[in-house]
Amino acid sequence: MVWWFSVPKIVFGDDALSELELIQGKKAIIITDKIVNGLGLAERVSDILCEKQWSTAIWDGVVSDPKVSTVKEAAEAMKQFGPDWIIAIGGGSAMDTAKAAWALYEKPGVQLEALTPFDILGLRVKARLVCIPTTAGTGSEATKAIVIRDDETGRKFATINPELVPDIAILDPSFVVGLPKELTAYTGLDALVHATEGYISVWKNDFSDGCSLEAVKMVFKWLPVSVADLTNLEAREKMLVAACLAGMSFGNSQVALAHSLGHSMGSVLRLHHGLSVGMALPYTIEFNCTNNNQCASQYAELARMIGITLKDGVKASLKFAEAIRDLMGVVGSPRSFSEAGVKKKDFKAGLEKLVEFAMMDSSLTMNPRNTDSNEIRKIYEYMYDGKVIDF
Ligand SMILES: NC(=O)c1ccc[n+]([C@@H]2O[C@H](COP(=O)([O-])OP(=O)(O)OC[C@H]3O[C@@H](n4cnc5c(N)ncnc54)[C@H](O)[C@@H]3O)[C@@H](O)[C@H]2O)c1
Ligand SMILES: [Fe+2]
Repeated sequence: MVWWFSVPKIVFGDDALSELELIQGKKAIIITDKIVNGLGLAERVSDILCEKQWSTAIWDGVVSDPKVSTVKEAAEAMKQFGPDWIIAIGGGSAMDTAKAAWALYEKPGVQLEALTPFDILGLRVKARLVCIPTTAGTGSEATKAIVIRDDETGRKFATINPELVPDIAILDPSFVVGLPKELTAYTGLDALVHATEGYISVWKNDFSDGCSLEAVKMVFKWLPVSVADLTNLEAREKMLVAACLAGMSFGNSQVALAHSLGHSMGSVLRLHHGLSVGMALPYTIEFNCTNNNQCASQYAELARMIGITLKDGVKASLKFAEAIRDLMGVVGSPRSFSEAGVKKKDFKAGLEKLVEFAMMDSSLTMNPRNTDSNEIRKIYEYMYDGKVIDF
């Protein structure tokens, strides 16, 4: 069997943005959202390119949890402008919009939801892609994944294709420094979930393992510092690296149950992605380690990275889940639906949709423990009140 480990060229450090001076081309379209554009970040990039006599366009129509229609609008802007470089500046929503629109720009007939890892798209004939993350979380700058929302059903779907790995990822902490406290916490937890799920996914491998171990250690060390001092550039840079490492991990191994639950929470209750998957993670650890020594020992290996040295795999896994809840307490991220302010009646009204969408999510197939809709419903119910999983 052949395996691939695909990552972009990753540029980091004080002067990372100077990479833009080296790329060869003539026309770049910047894909971003209005908030990020308002911070002047697109202009900073555009100025560097205009110095080289490039022409640039800024399209700032990205919305959080982008829909297929958002992607089509971005692709239309690309078609009108005809760029040879696409530059995504923003969080996962901007990067995923750019990646998906790039596929449509090059291959207008592509059906995003039907995309598989085995399709030959033939990208990079018209343009190449640079991603500059402004959140330290999704790792989309390093992955072959896109997460898009269906316009009609509102369901978020995740698809992967190896050609969607960006060409260049530029990690510049000054692009993240404006991120508010709550989003710093939520997006940082997303990185922790990627690192953890990349390590227990059934597609895990030696390369993804290395990235996960370092990323877990870094998130526990640097996320509290980032949240406590939003202007700490060292912490911002370390979290960008941790998120990118976690992206390199799960991008080459995939995510699991916490993402199935979390995508569904984003679709049905419109909760932020990082808040959702972060909330789900400890419950999924408790669920997965039960009667599964192999998975329990994998969580125990991650737990060792943060100083949990219990020999028994299940005990170490449960302690790891507890440590994650403690971290969430420190950074101020909700650990249950009730803490997130979801009203019981809204939860009850949405529960069947939550279960249905979670069961349809592609990440479920990578989870080490098989599950069904009854167990998923029960996990969500435990998550409402913050009860430790005991089944
Ligand atoms: N493709 C992948 O590999 C992958 C992985 C994980 C998540 N995702 C997807 O990414 C999306 C979430 O991305 P996200 O968590 O980065 O959030 P986001 O991109 O939706 O941004 C959240 C909010 O933060 C604002 N923001 C972003 N950067 C800022 C900055 N520097 N300063 C101030 N405000 C800023 C945005 O304008 C937006 O309002 C979800 O759709 C999720 O499913 C994709
Ligand atoms: Fe995620």
